[in-house]
Amino acid sequence: MISKKKILPQAKKKTSTAKKIEKKVVKKTVAKEMKKAAAPEKESLLMQPPRGMRDILPIDQPYWEKVRKALAVACQEYGYNRIDLPALEFTNLFVRSIGEGTDVIDKEIYSFVTKGGDKVSLRPEMTAGLARAYIQHGMSVLPKPIRLFSMGPLYRYERPQEGRYREHFQANFDVFGEDDPILDAQIIHLAQRVVSQLGLKNIEFRINSIGTAESRREYEKVLIRHLEFQKNKLCQNCRERLVTNPLRILDCKEDKCAQLVQSAPKFAEHLDQESKNHFKRLQEYLDELEVTYVVSPQMVRGLDYYTRTVFEIFSTDGEGRKTALGGGGRYDRLIQSLGGEETPAIGFGLGMDRLVLEMQRNNVKLHQELKPKVFLAQLGDLAKKKSLRLFSELQKNGILVAESFGRGSLKSQMRVANRLNVEVALILGQKEALDETVILKDMVSGTQETVTQDKLVIAVRKILKGNQVVVAKKGE
Ligand code: HAM
Repeated sequence: MISKKKILPQAKKKTSTAKKIEKKVVKKTVAKEMKKAAAPEKESLLMQPPRGMRDILPIDQPYWEKVRKALAVACQEYGYNRIDLPALEFTNLFVRSIGEGTDVIDKEIYSFVTKGGDKVSLRPEMTAGLARAYIQHGMSVLPKPIRLFSMGPLYRYERPQEGRYREHFQANFDVFGEDDPILDAQIIHLAQRVVSQLGLKNIEFRINSIGTAESRREYEKVLIRHLEFQKNKLCQNCRERLVTNPLRILDCKEDKCAQLVQSAPKFAEHLDQESKNHFKRLQEYLDELEVTYVVSPQMVRGLDYYTRTVFEIFSTDGEGRKTALGGGGRYDRLIQSLGGEETPAIGFGLGMDRLVLEMQRNNVKLHQELKPKVFLAQLGDLAKKKSLRLFSELQKNGILVAESFGRGSLKSQMRVANRLNVEVALILGQKEALDETVILKDMVSGTQETVTQDKLVIAVRKILKGNQVVVAKKGE
């Protein structure tokens, strides 16, 4: 029998250990809870980008590639040099260039203060940054005209819908240093060339002249006088525009505003004589280039820096839907207003997202992508290693090769080869790796041969050429 005396100290000991454990557990729980209370509530992780921004997936890339190629061809044909600008600039550069009272500055720009205290903005357009770069790098000493091409993402906090995004991509063509309207005609011709190269039909060019800043100020006074006593009939936005940016009322899409504008004095009647002549000559040049256009006296554009020529490119369909694919104009005073030399300039931006959308809507055909006609299969560790070198050898000789190096079984590799519809399968096993040979299987005729690795390129080319002859004969 176990005596009570013997049990008691042990029990006592157990109790104190249990107490210690209990204390530890309590301490840990309290610490956990304090940590939880101190840490902010974990935000749920959304598996999507911010509203109005999106991924451009591999399936859409062939369209983007076609756009980029057409832009590269235009750069070459018309002599534009590429410039890349930062996506972030000081906020006051945009405010000074685009102007207060515009939607872009008042409502759409993404602005913030950096940790270092700088007031910066994501670029809502390219022109301001381009003008800054022109001045900063002393481009005024270069032979004129200076033709620059830029491309990249822009950010505007707009209400997203199809074809309108908070992050969109633009391609911009800009020319600095000459104010002859022949440049205006040439740049519109370039825009036409790009859209037609992309296979887009039903394109409309609208052009207008908004004169010099002085003639615009004069007209603004006339317009305000006309609209002031009927301002209750304007939409809320236009009532504000009457104070901040009266010219924008001219291209308001609201019916009631459009009606009031109809009876307003016309801008064209208030243009200065020089702008009138400039505009007339532009139209003569466009006629010479056989560019069809519509003169659109109501068009003013939404950015303050424009003077004289402004234009927009629309895609239309039979049901009255119009999509603005691009727009631009002259900005002869911008460089000077930012502190540079007097430098006339003209440019335009093409909305790349919209070009792609229009191409897809119009079922535009894409070029066939180059597909590999050769598959390289390997079996065993040594063969796997050696096939890396063979792959690179074929690549260097301009032969596109598909492979499935991650797979071990020959059967599953040949399944991939069949799915890819290749014309030649190369098989490298342990024996071939040691002998420095390769098995070549002509997948069209089903014949097979073994060649030494140094003759591989010649042997592959021979089979591919032979198959071309067979295909050509079949087509006869
Ligand atoms: P913009 O008219 O504001 O001009 O934009 C040019 C084109 O970019 C539009 O016609 C449209 O196709 C596209 N775009 C504009 N906003 C969006 C958006 N939120 N989503 C998708 N596409 C959009 C300018 O930006 C001027 N800086 C062009 C310029 C260059 N002027 C002289 N040089």
